[in-house]
Amino acid sequence: MENKYEVVKALLKEQLLTHAIKPGEKLPSIRAASELWSCSKNTAIRAYQELENEHLIYSVPKSGYYAVVRSEKTTTSAIDWIDFSSATPDAEVMPYKDFQHCLNRAIELYEDHLFTYSDPQGFFTLRRALEKHLAHSQIFAPPSQICVVSGAQQALHLLASMPFPNGKSAVLVEQPTFHGMLRSLELLGVTALGIERRMDGIDLDELERHFRNNHIKFFYTVPRFHNPLGASYTEEQKKQIAMLAQKYDVYIVEDDFLADMDTDEKADPIYAYDQAGKVIYVKSFSKIMLPGLRLACVVLPTSLMETFRLFKASSDSSTAALSQAALELYLNCGMYDHHAGLVRERYRMRMEKLAECASRLLPPQVQLATGRGGIFARLSLSDEVNLHDLITALHLKQVRVNSTEQNYLRLFRRDHGLRISIMQTDFTKIERGIQIVAETLESLLEQQKSNRLHVIDWI
Ligand SMILES: Cc1ncc(COP(=O)(O)O)c(C=O)c1O
Repeated sequence: MENKYEVVKALLKEQLLTHAIKPGEKLPSIRAASELWSCSKNTAIRAYQELENEHLIYSVPKSGYYAVVRSEKTTTSAIDWIDFSSATPDAEVMPYKDFQHCLNRAIELYEDHLFTYSDPQGFFTLRRALEKHLAHSQIFAPPSQICVVSGAQQALHLLASMPFPNGKSAVLVEQPTFHGMLRSLELLGVTALGIERRMDGIDLDELERHFRNNHIKFFYTVPRFHNPLGASYTEEQKKQIAMLAQKYDVYIVEDDFLADMDTDEKADPIYAYDQAGKVIYVKSFSKIMLPGLRLACVVLPTSLMETFRLFKASSDSSTAALSQAALELYLNCGMYDHHAGLVRERYRMRMEKLAECASRLLPPQVQLATGRGGIFARLSLSDEVNLHDLITALHLKQVRVNSTEQNYLRLFRRDHGLRISIMQTDFTKIERGIQIVAETLESLLEQQKSNRLHVIDWI
């Protein structure tokens, strides 16, 4: 190091990172620092400024410099879990550094927005950027029809609470479905009806019966890479759903939470087939970016926008200005598309690996259906396997899997299976995890067989 300020900076940095100077603690004054390290005051000031630029310290006017208090990184437990249950994005794949840069730029460029309340519908400039972004997925809507929301969950909750122009009140959901929607419906006391969703879709005749005979305000669906099944509708099924919505004046709430993970450019959303203004399109940014930013957008028919805006404004005034500004920068500079491409490829390879391991390792009584991409697969089990025993046995071997209990309405008939998520895995964990699932299943089936024989012996 040639410059003295670099030496002072390095010494201080070491003390900050090792917590020799504790988070929140005051640093020596400039004068004390120059005496301590036998340097000029300018040298000490330069070292402090550099540390401030790196967000390790901050200054309080007329008081001095303090060490930044950082949230403790979650301590990684000594056990290396194989986690097939989590749907939170893999930190390894997240654009944390890029986004940190965008947030810093956002503070500089959007300073004015931070001092005021902003439009409940979202920054106009962000909605213009979203207009362009959504067009890639065949969603053509002007900024006046787009609303920025604090996460898709907020949009679902507001849509479930607000009145609709069709004057109807019940909500139809796929079974199974995203548990966040079920929780909102239950909390709001909304009547919810279910229609079975399988890997190959839904029974469209049954959908028509529901639309015709019941008082359905909207049908909530996750057409692409369904949570928890991982399945997607065909283009024909999406066309039929849009057509039935028009015929029976029922709205469709289309939750496209994994739109950016699709490798098939021809896979369009239901929104693209809607000719009657009956589809509300919801897109989350949590799975491609950072879920903590709480960002999503909704595209609404003009007839619904005013009511939605009112409910949104009453819920949180507006989505956090800093998150909005950072997303706008991220979209406009091309980093979003670049990052989405990387994420898509990473998860596509994991899904392929999962499918390959499942076909090689799992016993014949068990099927793993991977859909055509996304992040979830469905492990279907025969009735002889006790799900609770399986989950517990896997847990004891440090493998986490989720039952889909919470994805069903209370009285709906449950399918016998598990959701397998690849979000928090890698190739090694997938191979090892599926191997453990296979061994555990085989020993459970063996155990059940011998229990049955004992009963027969005894009789
Ligand atoms: C299908 C589905 N919709 C919506 C959400 C919620 O997204 P957000 O984080 O934008 O609220 C999730 C979260 O996992 C989800 O799986």
